[in-house]
Amino acid sequence: MTSRYVLSIDQGTTSTRAMVFDRNGRLAGMGQREHRQIFPRPGWVEHDAAQIWANTRRVIPQALADLGISVADVAAVGVASQRETFVLWERDSGRPVCPAIVWQDTRSQLIVDRLLDDPGADFFRSRAGIPPAAYFTAPRLSWLMETHPDLRVRALRGELLMGTMETWLIWNLTGGPDGGVHVTDVTNASRTLLMNLKTLDWDPDLLEFFDVPEAILPRIVPSSKVVGTAVGGLAGVPVAAAVGDQQGALFGQTCFDAGEVKCTYGTGAFLLMNTGADIVTSTHGMLPTVAYQLADGSKAYALEGSIAVAGGLVQWVRDGLGLIESAPQIETLARTVDDSGGCVVVPAFTGLFSPYWSSSARGVISGLTSFVTAGHLARAVLESCAWQTNDVVEAMAADAGVPLKSLRVDGGMTSNHLLMQLVADVLDVSVVRPTSSETVSLGAAYLAGLAVGYWPDVHVLRRNWHRAGQWDPQLRSELREQQRAAWRAAIVRTLDVRG
Ligand code: G3P
Repeated sequence: MTSRYVLSIDQGTTSTRAMVFDRNGRLAGMGQREHRQIFPRPGWVEHDAAQIWANTRRVIPQALADLGISVADVAAVGVASQRETFVLWERDSGRPVCPAIVWQDTRSQLIVDRLLDDPGADFFRSRAGIPPAAYFTAPRLSWLMETHPDLRVRALRGELLMGTMETWLIWNLTGGPDGGVHVTDVTNASRTLLMNLKTLDWDPDLLEFFDVPEAILPRIVPSSKVVGTAVGGLAGVPVAAAVGDQQGALFGQTCFDAGEVKCTYGTGAFLLMNTGADIVTSTHGMLPTVAYQLADGSKAYALEGSIAVAGGLVQWVRDGLGLIESAPQIETLARTVDDSGGCVVVPAFTGLFSPYWSSSARGVISGLTSFVTAGHLARAVLESCAWQTNDVVEAMAADAGVPLKSLRVDGGMTSNHLLMQLVADVLDVSVVRPTSSETVSLGAAYLAGLAVGYWPDVHVLRRNWHRAGQWDPQLRSELREQQRAAWRAAIVRTLDVRG
């Protein structure tokens, strides 16, 4: 094979990035553009899918130019995406007919409440593995169809297509209205609440409960498989992978064996444990999900603990409070003090995800006294990321029956050394970070490269994983227990505050 690189697109919640990787899994070139966050009403979060596609078209040449290569040097392209966010568009024109409704959006809560009453969460868990929640795609899709009956009529006539963001990008990359491929992968489909987690097909009963016409849904394919050929700026390049960003990070961290765990710190934080060929059901608020499926059909499942707000809290300190000018400054500010001065922050901006699953919970700052400074508050913000991680780790250990031995981390926030130390202190296990913290993109690149034979098998990929940082626990256990008690008390208050 003469092509020397694999390209991946990471369509995230705040930006779209294209990254070029070499055979050693090293990041060689990148391009990035942010898109608008649209908040039309409290609890509503939208993106403009047309803007996201326009950004994608721009970042691809940026990444190639960054390295000075041409499209002929690209062996394959893989697409990782924010999960659960979806859009509907016209099959004939490619024009979106609604905003992309984002995973953080809570407008479908009434539909969720109705389904929790009847037929109840267990029915959905037995099919999709996950309970009804506004976080997942189907309730928001139902909301759209209920609120705009014209869209339902057009959907039934076969005029519209639906997709999560990787579906939207792959359809456009492969030609859009002129023959674009309409697919989603098993990992993204597992977050819609419409796919049967055992059969990996759309579940007819779930489609009926959410009143979703099957005609608008993409075909479900493995995460690693050539599904088409790109046109336009990437003309001729095989489109060879699609994966939800968090599952992509699990793959990029080479967590191929059951029991291996990673946590990605981005807008939210997502901890996934590979559970092998088995679906592990959760009784502690974790989400069984698909980890990946390769072209030969082999697959792995995962258990996920989802934290809605992690880096998003630092953004709020910057944009909402104006206490810092850039996100990295939170570390400098937090280092001005030795502890949080008794202050605890729980960032339940739109409820709490794992393991609590409360959509009505709202954020709390507790322990405020006149002693508390901006430094203490910054420290409490970082501690809240660590304690949220701990809540998920404890619930995961209870479900999996084995305690965590060490935690692999990645994502933008892992450049915050104080945060990484706090996570190690609170979890009381070592935290390790690989050389590439861009594991979402790396995972999509690996999946695409495997599909075209750029890498022969997953064993080769393990050799690309190198430790770049390690943080070992240093906190005295009595101090940890004091903090734990304060965190628990703040969580109870958070669950009492009703939004
Ligand atoms: O489930 C939502 C998740 O996929 C979003 O990830 O990194 O875009 O915040 P991120």
